Amino acid sequence: MKKFSLLLLMAGSCYGELHSDGIDMDDISDNFDCFACHTLEDPGVGPSFKAIAQRYTAQDKTMLIDKIINGGGGNWGQEMMLAHPDINEATAASLVDFIFSTVDP
Ligand code: HEC
Repeated sequence: MKKFSLLLLMAGSCYGELHSDGIDMDDISDNFDCFACHTLEDPGVGPSFKAIAQRYTAQDKTMLIDKIINGGGGNWGQEMMLAHPDINEATAASLVDFIFSTVDP
């Protein structure tokens, strides 16, 4: 057991902050509805995660966190981003980190 948690700790530190909540593609499709409207590469109802990553920088993170939680529109087109009141700020921040990780800086 002890060895197992140490391994987890080590695996965690390799990925750094980004994966501290363990958010990856599978977690998103298992736990969130994002892929109903977004894909990694292609525009759907919403912009692709890669397009979002290319458009914004770390400075926009607060706005993006707010948008995931409260929803809204106007930045990409006519469609509205659905609100996610059940997602807390830390989780939303991890989702934004994941989106940013889909392209090289
Ligand atoms: C009902 C469809 C829908 C769902 C579900 C959805 N989105 Fe969106 N999302 C959109 C649309 C449409 C936009 C573009 C909004 C705009 O034009 O400002 C968007 C935009 C975004 C943006 C960029 C915001 C901006 O202002 O540029 C982020 C980040 C984002 N979504 C993340 C997520 C995440 C993470 C999830 C899952 C928790 C999610 N979305 C679920 C439709 C959706």
